[in-house]
Amino acid sequence: MVARQHRRQVVDLGRRAGGGRFRIPGPGYGFMHLLNSGKTGSGKSSTATKLIGSLAGRADIVLTGDDHKAGMELLPWSSRFTETATTLAHTEDLLGRLVDQVDARGQTILEHGHEQGRTIRTWESWMGPRLVHVVDEGAELTYSKTAVELLDSLAARGRALGVHLIVSTQYALTADFPTTLLLNLTGRICHRMGTAAQYATALAVDQGELRDHGFEPIPEGERYQGVCYVNGIPGMADLSRCRTDLVSDAAIDRRAAATAHLRWSPEHVFDTRRSAGAAVELEAETAGDRQGSRRPEATTESPTPAQPAASVLFGGLTS
Ligand SMILES: Nc1ncnc2c1ncn2[C@@H]1O[C@H](COP(=O)(O)OP(=O)(O)O)[C@@H](O)[C@H]1O
Ligand SMILES: [Mg+2]
Repeated sequence: MVARQHRRQVVDLGRRAGGGRFRIPGPGYGFMHLLNSGKTGSGKSSTATKLIGSLAGRADIVLTGDDHKAGMELLPWSSRFTETATTLAHTEDLLGRLVDQVDARGQTILEHGHEQGRTIRTWESWMGPRLVHVVDEGAELTYSKTAVELLDSLAARGRALGVHLIVSTQYALTADFPTTLLLNLTGRICHRMGTAAQYATALAVDQGELRDHGFEPIPEGERYQGVCYVNGIPGMADLSRCRTDLVSDAAIDRRAAATAHLRWSPEHVFDTRRSAGAAVELEAETAGDRQGSRRPEATTESPTPAQPAASVLFGGLTS
């Protein structure tokens, strides 16, 4: 039980140089928006895969994604992901709906955050699922000003409202991304880069700090794929050097199949009528009743087969 609870609270990604595990706090436990950077072939997608594999096991997490390489990277997860955009037009639409969710959630807290005898300022999982949006290659989005603005809005407002971003990109260029967006992607995982300046930007430090921490560039070559530095991650010393565990394709397929029953259907995530219904439900809910189902509409309205049972979602988390 303790181990299960621990698995829920932390995302285990790999090893830390010098011993210990490379772990980050999970959504609801201090998770921060992540910028996952590095040159092509440095291990970004593998790190994202390890993250997704861990989050996929949580019934209270909705996964969505952006994958413009014909969906190649996120394709293995399609049975667990609610929606994956593979074109810019789709990305704009999906990000727009995620921003709508942020607005609706902010409204819910505004209207109902003073009930139940305490003041609620941030999203809590009994109010609804956490949304994690995974971008496989952030630079692809920069062709659309709309997409970048929507991502910026999510990064600025989403975290307190249970909407989180994992953005992978080759470089963390201010020419590509607005400064505010980069500032709000506070958790940094940086794989092999070309220059010290690129490492510094990707890790949100200056080059002097890199030197002070005894930073050494990550060499090219198989032995160093998946090696990364981290910064801004609670529980991890700044500029810790780590290596993500490599997950085999077969293991990804097994994990996707084993967690497919936890996939949230788009109607339950994006239907604002249902979101409004959830707010009314929240009103009726008492503090002692939080373990109960939050979404009775799942049983009274047209059933969605892919939807996990409400008891699995917010009752005893058995998986
Ligand atoms: N943590 C790791 N341990 C060992 N090998 C790795 C690791 N991460 C990646 N690799 C190897 O590097 C290759 C490229 O990794 P990938 O994640 O696709 O890089 P990127 O997304 O940055 O282009 C993978 O196919 C794999 O063989
Ligand atoms: Mg990749």
